[in-house]
Amino acid sequence: MASRKLLLLPGDGIGPEAMAEVRKLIAYMNAELGAGFETEEGLVGGSAYDACGQAISEEDMAKAMAADAVLFGAVGGPKWDGVPYEVRPEAGLLRLRKEMELFANLRPAICYPALASSSSLKPEVVEGLDILIVRELTGGVYFGEPKEIIDLGNGQKRGIDTQVYDTFEIERISGVAFELARTRSNKVCSMEKHNVMKSGVLWKEVVAQTHKAKYSDVELTHMLADAGGMQLVRWPKQFDVIVTDNLFGDMLSDVAAMLTGSLGMLPSASLGAPDPKTGSRKALYEPVHGSAPDIAGKGIANPIAMIASFAMCLRYSFNMVDHADRLEKAIADVLDQGLRTGDIMSEGCTQVSTSDMGDAILAQFKALAA
Ligand code: NAD
Ligand code: IPM
Ligand code: MN
Repeated sequence: MASRKLLLLPGDGIGPEAMAEVRKLIAYMNAELGAGFETEEGLVGGSAYDACGQAISEEDMAKAMAADAVLFGAVGGPKWDGVPYEVRPEAGLLRLRKEMELFANLRPAICYPALASSSSLKPEVVEGLDILIVRELTGGVYFGEPKEIIDLGNGQKRGIDTQVYDTFEIERISGVAFELARTRSNKVCSMEKHNVMKSGVLWKEVVAQTHKAKYSDVELTHMLADAGGMQLVRWPKQFDVIVTDNLFGDMLSDVAAMLTGSLGMLPSASLGAPDPKTGSRKALYEPVHGSAPDIAGKGIANPIAMIASFAMCLRYSFNMVDHADRLEKAIADVLDQGLRTGDIMSEGCTQVSTSDMGDAILAQFKALAA
């Protein structure tokens, strides 16, 4: 069996707490299922800054480039509010995405049946929800140049960020969205703002061209991103796959997270292009949530987004589809049993800690394997 090299980057705040629950799954899979994961550990974000003055060291960056997959916790926190912009915790994550060329960020928002009443929306609006946001991750305003603050010399400063998209970037991300739609309900909605942004005009045009050239069997609609946000909370089940740019995707996926009950529920996979020779692709798996400084260190964070990100890793990086299905089923079963971390707690359920939730999912994963 080929070795499976995993780099674990727990990061800051609740990142290490959530990652501890994935470590339990890895240990079990190695010991009992012969999974053969070879894990390495690294530092990212504020913890890396404290250790070496960088948001990720060259050594850990090299480990990430050499790994079959990276598991990432979360970065950031008030402790590092004052550090220089270039080495702020979030810069470590952005560097990983850019240098690993992880242009496709898949953010599925699934409302588990047991959580339909945990959302801030009415249960009938979210029950059975299963949508996928495909977010472009290496372009747009996150990386466009110029990006700076200039002194205008009259007591005024100017902050500049630049939104840039080239044809090939829109083609490849829309290709990912269309391919994935074919494996689901065959619908893609592309979101941009062509009414005010030139990059939006190009985005819409290139998505339509890509559709016409290769994916005309998939149903394609276009929506302005602001209206898309409104439709996501009005009637989210109208969507199957949403494809959008880096910044809109960031915002729309936090909105989608709340449809599922909590930001602590949403996993993600960030994927590079498949190698033409081997078919393998660089990949990083991370929850959509951040380091949650308000609850860090209390042992109460929801580890499901991190565990479900590991399930995505099993599926997309290692083709361990049965194990991924089983892990996702274990999460659903544990929720059906009424176990809840504080963020998804509701009447009649049992509130558990981060590690109790991880243990229960592991126990159910084992039970399903038996
Ligand atoms: P956040 O996602 O950390 O927290 C938002 C709210 O959701 C908080 O009330 C938090 O307690 C809650 N929450 C988030 N994850 C949870 C979980 N697993 N279980 C229970 N509750 C959870 O967003 P924020 O507060 O805006 O940002 C905090 C820091 O995290 C910032 O420095 C930000 O840049 C960073 N951040 C990092 C990532 C990442 O590493 N991928 C993502 C988003 C934000
Ligand atoms: C996310 C986060 C990141 C982003 C930050 C931490 C750089 O909010 O992954 O959603 O803005 O992409
Ligand atoms: Mn975000």
